[in-house]
Amino acid sequence: MIRTPFCDLVGIDAPIVHASFGPWSSVALAAAVSRAGALGSYGTSQRPYDVVRGDVARLREEADGRSFAVNYVLRPLSEETVELTLEFEPPVVSFALGLSGELISRAQDAGAKVIQQVHTVEQARRAAEAGADAIIAQGSEAGGFGGTVTSLVLLPQVVDAVAPLPVLAAGGIADGRGLAAALLLGGQGANIGTRFLASTEAEVSEDWKAAILAARSEDAVKVEFAASVFPPPSDGGYDTTPRVLQTDFVAEWNRRPEEAARRGDELRAELMQALLAGRAHELVPFTGQSAGMIRQVKPAAEIVRELMDGAEQALRASSGLTG
Ligand SMILES: Cc1cc2nc3c(=O)[nH]c(=O)nc-3n(C[C@H](O)[C@H](O)[C@H](O)COP(=O)(O)O)c2cc1C
Repeated sequence: MIRTPFCDLVGIDAPIVHASFGPWSSVALAAAVSRAGALGSYGTSQRPYDVVRGDVARLREEADGRSFAVNYVLRPLSEETVELTLEFEPPVVSFALGLSGELISRAQDAGAKVIQQVHTVEQARRAAEAGADAIIAQGSEAGGFGGTVTSLVLLPQVVDAVAPLPVLAAGGIADGRGLAAALLLGGQGANIGTRFLASTEAEVSEDWKAAILAARSEDAVKVEFAASVFPPPSDGGYDTTPRVLQTDFVAEWNRRPEEAARRGDELRAELMQALLAGRAHELVPFTGQSAGMIRQVKPAAEIVRELMDGAEQALRASSGLTG
């Protein structure tokens, strides 16, 4: 069994975090991942507080005493949701898309270990200075909002920049070989999104899951006109653009970014309406390049097991290379 100090920090057995899915988060998926010994995450982004409150209470119950994380993004940040959910004393809190030292301290005062997701070495340094307990270095292969530097290049630099803080890799990891690679680069685990989207428990549309199974890596593209349609970052927010599976909406406006900027209000309204109607995935199905490696929808516990077994096999095989 692979175990890293990060496992002890957040109280898990397998050094795997199921990345939060923001508005597409699922209590059932997060709980299944936690029960499988990894860290399930529940995302609060774009969710009304009364839904979040009920969901976090259910997650605590369904996680069966296992550790779990509640995630907040600074695009935009809902101060009220942070304030109120910290009263539930989640064991782990993760922040993404921006840094607030004050929020990190508040979460720690509420008893949580804090994980900060970053996209550059400088952001990692600042997060370490602000007191984060662990860092996620997210490479540009990732699904959802992210930066421009790939995981292979970013992870070892972040590991060096914030040592001895634990660093997790995110972006492009969908099997045990990827997890093993993250460990070999000095990471202490992986924060995995897209692989868990194609899980039995994920509460996203079957069409979206089918599109992931059919996708090539190059079908997961950046939304170049994102600044015109997505809510802007809060204070301390990072400069990021989302990666999604190509749709007609994305293809059309990626071709005409100037017009998208001129018609920003209209497009933003269209997106927000789709989000409220549960159809945002028809426009912007947040998905990473690892979609090209995913060919089957599987239960979350099986995904965790296969990641762990595959990583162990890859690490054993690699030790034979040194004569
Ligand atoms: C559908 C989807 C929604 C996401 N929403 C969030 C979010 O709300 N908060 C967050 O910290 N990260 C979010 N992410 C990014 C993940 O934290 C993670 O960095 C990414 O999924 C890792 O790359 P991978 O998709 O290649 O595994 C999201 C990713 C996806 C695919």
